[in-house]
Amino acid sequence: MNYLESLRNRYSVKKFDKDKTVSSDLIANILEAAKLSASSLGLQPYEIIIVQSAEMKEKLVPAFYNPSQISTCSHLIVLVSKNTIGEEYIGKYFSHISQTREIPLESLNPFKQSISSHIEKLSPEEVMAWADKQCYIVLGNLMFAAALENVDTCPMEGFSPEKISQVLEIDASTEKVAVTLALGYRSEEDQFQKLKKVRKPNDKLFKFI
Ligand SMILES: Cc1cc2nc3c(=O)[nH]c(=O)nc-3n(C[C@H](O)[C@H](O)[C@H](O)COP(=O)(O)O)c2cc1C
Repeated sequence: MNYLESLRNRYSVKKFDKDKTVSSDLIANILEAAKLSASSLGLQPYEIIIVQSAEMKEKLVPAFYNPSQISTCSHLIVLVSKNTIGEEYIGKYFSHISQTREIPLESLNPFKQSISSHIEKLSPEEVMAWADKQCYIVLGNLMFAAALENVDTCPMEGFSPEKISQVLEIDASTEKVAVTLALGYRSEEDQFQKLKKVRKPNDKLFKFI
């Protein structure tokens, strides 16, 4: 399958086949795509939680408004944005760059200062909103990679962030559940796989100038 075929084959699954589990090798490949995602300033202001235990998935069911995906999926990925992008976080990021690329830390100071002064101007709410956007880039890559691996998904925003935070012990003052992605294999009973895709025509969607 080429990538367009994979994308046409992808749809937002409403019910997964409960008896099918995505292998750990495939999960590792899909997560590698998350890791390779671009992020603003390279700061990766998020954490990616992979819920694989049946017990944990069960605990999360009440947090979703339409939970049929959660009660049938193989894995649930929770993308958590962070607003703790201060001096310490940025300092660690630059030490990491220096070590990885084997360059002196001091040579990175101009870049570090420009990043710090940009982030400093933002309120915690603005940092969180910016971090949320980065999570959606990860979401897109996860969905794309899964489609190429023939793994089905459903991106989900229909949840109570408070309830998920409670179950996953997420600190609401510094972290926020941005979006989630259920993964697994479509159930034969899921009628949604038979529906035609509804998309704007090209002349309404694209504007060449
Ligand atoms: C960010 C995001 C959040 C979504 N949240 C939900 C959700 O909570 N529940 C659900 O059933 N579908 C959800 N969807 C799926 C969309 O409804 C779906 O992508 C859209 O209708 C297009 O259909 P398709 O993905 O099957 O092509 C979400 C999609 C995106 C991108």
